[in-house]
Amino acid sequence: MEFSIKSGYLDRPKVCVVAGIFEAYRGRFTLPAKQIDQLSGGYLTKFLQRGEMKGKLASVLMLHHVPGMKARVLLVGLGKEKTYREAEFCKAVRAAVTALDAAGIQGAFLSLTSGDAPRDVSWRIRQAVLVTEETLYRFDRCKSEKLPPRPALRHLVLAADSGELALGERALSQGCAIAEGIRLARDLGNLPANICTPEYLAETTRDMAAELKLDCAILTPKKIAAEGMEALLAVARGSRREARFIHLEYRPPKNEDKPLVLIGKGVTFDSGGISLKPAAGMEEMKYDMCGAAAVLGVMRAAARMALPVPLVALIPCCENMPGGDAARPGDIVRSLSGQRIEIVNTDAEGRLLLCDALAYAKRCKPAAIIDVATLTGACVVALGHVASGFFTRDEDLARALAQAAETAQDRLWRLPLWEEYDEALKSGFADVANVGGREGGAITAASFLSRFVDKKTPWAHLDIAGTAWKSGKDKGATGRPVALLCHYLLQRAQERDVAAGDKTS
Ligand code: BES
Ligand code: MN
Ligand code: ZN
Repeated sequence: MEFSIKSGYLDRPKVCVVAGIFEAYRGRFTLPAKQIDQLSGGYLTKFLQRGEMKGKLASVLMLHHVPGMKARVLLVGLGKEKTYREAEFCKAVRAAVTALDAAGIQGAFLSLTSGDAPRDVSWRIRQAVLVTEETLYRFDRCKSEKLPPRPALRHLVLAADSGELALGERALSQGCAIAEGIRLARDLGNLPANICTPEYLAETTRDMAAELKLDCAILTPKKIAAEGMEALLAVARGSRREARFIHLEYRPPKNEDKPLVLIGKGVTFDSGGISLKPAAGMEEMKYDMCGAAAVLGVMRAAARMALPVPLVALIPCCENMPGGDAARPGDIVRSLSGQRIEIVNTDAEGRLLLCDALAYAKRCKPAAIIDVATLTGACVVALGHVASGFFTRDEDLARALAQAAETAQDRLWRLPLWEEYDEALKSGFADVANVGGREGGAITAASFLSRFVDKKTPWAHLDIAGTAWKSGKDKGATGRPVALLCHYLLQRAQERDVAAGDKTS
């Protein structure tokens, strides 16, 4: 998909101009719609008066022959002007892109990004790109039959006022970079576990590192054992596919800041191990590496945007299988941190990978750590598929993440991380058990992780078990929370700019 930015109109044959209508008794024109109406001698007014377009949010009306115009016109409902905000903008863009593509239109001009709501032009352009790419995404790499080329829509021109073209261009390249990161995360998530193995994730990372000039080290089991990551290896042992530990770095030029460390759970298939999962729906456990995929997506986007924020990605990868050498319930292993863990349930494997990565993170001297994991079914019970869960004891990080979630329209909801929950993980035989009870499962998982993080380092844990993929008719990986994390990085970059500005002024 190609995007460009333009002020003014694009009236060409084979193109379609998208204009918004606010909801009212007879609909109400936005400025671009009004201009088309005037140009066409009141042609649009007729449709509104006849009640054919009332402006209901995400409703669409395609007009093939508009007097005085070579282009077609797609009217899209924006809902009531008073309630037209971020979510409504995204829904309207989604409806427009769906309608354009369904009508087989190859090029379109989206006027919704001009004007002054919602937010600023940069936000609207970034978001228009993200919503468009999300809407048109298909995953058919594993189908034999060659499908007709998709999407029909090839080129989208985004409107900006003439004074905002430079801002618009910048936002456009950011949007494209983030969309690329999201696409990578979705593709990796959608690949089946027989293709997307720990080794495959490692090789994908290596290729990406070469392409984007990132530093990359891949630890194989020998090296992982030498480092002392016995918890990770305890999970990997049940599978014939070897574990990999990915260490990927992005360092912007002339930047000595401490890095932000991103950790992603990379369980390429979670059968549960000896604590085997029930058969129904187990195929969805190929998505148990979506945390890893999201972190790789963020690294890709950040490098593409050349963000002034150094990043380290740590991605423990393995498969959780019930092989002959698999860990048994009751086994005790020594994690990299030195803490001994009683593996009461082999299906609580994610935290075993993450605790070693969290301990390893210390040597990167992190400014902050964020881990991303499809960690608990309990988080899905608590929050459903709308919001990812997040946990932190750092109020600044909590605020920043909540703000980024709002900006990215990639919802997060904070759950507590109070010490009272630590009780649940007591072990009679080792230092800590890998499961608490059924109750508060998302929180006790976070509490487990918290024991492996240096108290002075700001740390947040994102549980994406309910948001990383969709089931049912729209099944597939969502790429969440790549957009959220990228917006968090954009915020950090901006704060850094402001701080630098203060110093020089
Ligand atoms: N990968 C799963 C979590 C999961 C389950 C994500 C369902 C999405 C949908 C994780 O490894 C797991 O199995 N967690 C267990 C923990 C339990 C044994 C304490 C769970 O949530 O059931
Ligand atoms: Mn599991
Ligand atoms: Zn898992």
